[in-house]
Amino acid sequence: MTGGLSRAQLVSGVVAIAAEERSLRDVLRRSAALVVRATAADACFLHVVDEDGSVVLMGAEPAEFDALAGSIRLAPGEGLAGWVAHHAEMAVVSDKWSDPRYRYIPALRGEDYRSLVSVPLLRPNRGVVGVINVHAREAGHFAPEQVERVGEVADLLAGIVEGAVLHDRLRQKEQQLERFAEHSVELQEIEHRRIAGDIHDGISQRLVSAWYHLRAARSLAGEAAEIQDELDSVEQLISAAVEEARAAIAGLRPTVLDDLGLAAAIDSLATNAGPFEAEVDLEDCSLPPHLEMCVYRVTQEALQNAVKHSGARTVRITLRRHAEEVVLSVSDDGAGFEAQPRGRSGGYGVGGMAERAALIGGTLEVVSAPGEGTVVRMTVPLAGQPTHS
Ligand SMILES: Nc1ncnc2c1ncn2[C@@H]1O[C@H](COP(=O)(O)OP(=O)(O)OP(=O)(O)O)[C@@H](O)[C@H]1O
Ligand SMILES: [Mg+2]
Repeated sequence: MTGGLSRAQLVSGVVAIAAEERSLRDVLRRSAALVVRATAADACFLHVVDEDGSVVLMGAEPAEFDALAGSIRLAPGEGLAGWVAHHAEMAVVSDKWSDPRYRYIPALRGEDYRSLVSVPLLRPNRGVVGVINVHAREAGHFAPEQVERVGEVADLLAGIVEGAVLHDRLRQKEQQLERFAEHSVELQEIEHRRIAGDIHDGISQRLVSAWYHLRAARSLAGEAAEIQDELDSVEQLISAAVEEARAAIAGLRPTVLDDLGLAAAIDSLATNAGPFEAEVDLEDCSLPPHLEMCVYRVTQEALQNAVKHSGARTVRITLRRHAEEVVLSVSDDGAGFEAQPRGRSGGYGVGGMAERAALIGGTLEVVSAPGEGTVVRMTVPLAGQPTHS
């Protein structure tokens, strides 16, 4: 007797895992349970070989060992699983206490099991992708036909485990990329605040003191018309520089966001936007600063476009927070336009809005046609973002 499962049952068990499970952990947890049933053994540990050659426990049966997944790692070549991964060769151990390759890990309660078979999961071109360790309480549990059964299971599982490992690595890389994008937006924010602070505390303050000195110079110059004309020019230059510094600060960091919150800041944008009636319906939602900044900037550009290009009578702005996403919509009843293929709008605005949305994992659509008005809609996912309301 080779165990509780026929070959057909074994194959259909493997097919079910391949069809139903998506995550690496679930694939390995269920595979470990299948191996125990197929070989009438007492425990199974499924390891994945990492990119650096170390071997990591990623699924086990019974469930108490499965809870240790991810926390047990053997260095390349270490322990029996490490040896098997390194040599790409099966190891049958009828009494592990007399095998020097065996390494005792207290959490895995090796004292409860004496015999063990360790089999590599081999893939053409990729070598060993994982190692199955099957344990039995009695010494010498694994007769040749049982060893063969373990090898058979390993052949069936190798491709599925490889697929799950690759899928998992891809997902991790995607998450890293998302975090990186989010982090860059945050860093840019911090840098903008710093520059705004420098301009405010440095250049602006000096311009203000220059202006006071200028007033003093004016009274000293008395009635000398030529000097007064020169001082007029200096005063105009200083005023223009103060204005430019103010505009630069406002462009770098809209302080209204900090002062009023997102909804009120958008409301104030709408009220001061232009020669149309602004209807606003804004949910009062507090989002992480980099998301608020993005929503604010996109509203600003959409409104500017409505002012510059649409001739609209009414512009409507809505902001809604749903469980999983925030949706901003800016629509006008103006001239509309023929949407251009991406990157050929002629201006920076539409592309810039789409880039901002993409950086935080969102999407931006512009729906427009001549004579039909324009709708700019941005959807920002909240999943994975630290939010509070
Ligand atoms: N609300 C709108 N109504 C009508 N036409 C629009 C509207 N928004 C954009 N457009 C059209 O799409 C073009 C591209 O817009 P985009 O914002 O990319 O550039 P821009 O506004 O011309 O320049 P920039 O934004 O770089 O200052 C505009 O030139 C205009 O023809
Ligand atoms: Mg524009």
